[in-house]
Amino acid sequence: MKQAEMIYLKDTVKSSNIFAGKYTYYAKEKADEDFEEDCVLYNKEGRAKLIFGSFTSIANGVRFIMPAANHSMNSISTYPFMAVKKDWYERASMRAKDIPVKGDTVIGNDVWIGRGATIMPGVKIGNGAVIGSRAVVAKDVPDYAIVAGNPARLIRYRFNQETIDFLNKLEWWNFSDEQIEEAIPFLTNLDLEESKAGLLKIKNRAKQTEQ
Ligand SMILES: CC(C)(COP(=O)(O)OP(=O)(O)OC[C@H]1O[C@@H](n2cnc3c(N)ncnc32)[C@H](O)[C@@H]1OP(=O)(O)O)[C@@H](O)C(=O)NCCC(=O)NCCS
Repeated sequence: MKQAEMIYLKDTVKSSNIFAGKYTYYAKEKADEDFEEDCVLYNKEGRAKLIFGSFTSIANGVRFIMPAANHSMNSISTYPFMAVKKDWYERASMRAKDIPVKGDTVIGNDVWIGRGATIMPGVKIGNGAVIGSRAVVAKDVPDYAIVAGNPARLIRYRFNQETIDFLNKLEWWNFSDEQIEEAIPFLTNLDLEESKAGLLKIKNRAKQTEQ
């Protein structure tokens, strides 16, 4: 299989309601694939945002269902009369903007979204979370949780609470590019205590030079 091309969203997205931090990428596999066209569905700019943190990995075939996708469920019919014919649009008692939206979809930093997962409208996914392949994520996912299935259920947490709190406070994803270079050996080291000590040193050194 040909290796996927990593498309950095920050450099490529055009929609005014999609935001991405540095190095967050989509794994493009086919030349004619377009992240916004193919992966962000029912996007109506101005209704809700899709926000990604930094260093988030989005595998091929992931779908974000945007909050403006909904039909009205509180009127007698869910049929979208106003979108089908011009005179039905005139006769309809509501407009698309009257259908409630679930708020912005927010994906944290250092999240890994597995192949073919679907993220439902308005979901918030925490830092460091992992979304299993083909998961349908309909509810918020806590920081550093691994979820999978339809509907996505918690499998386990990646780390204990102490480490999760440490990483959320450290916010290594906001390091400068120079600090990231230095941090890479610790970000990829399986000895967590050694990594935490190394990362803290990098952060504290930057703090000292600022003062
Ligand atoms: C979610 C994931 C990270 C879990 O990995 P893991 O920790 O090794 O999990 P395990 O294989 O030990 O499975 C743990 C449980 O979750 C279930 N599970 C794992 N992945 C699942 C998935 N994608 N969908 C549904 N259930 C899943 C297993 O059946 C098992 O269930 P059980 O506890 O009832 O027996 C992994 O299965 C996955 O989906 N990775 C994404 C791969 C991918 O899409 N890569 C794209 C290229 S970057």
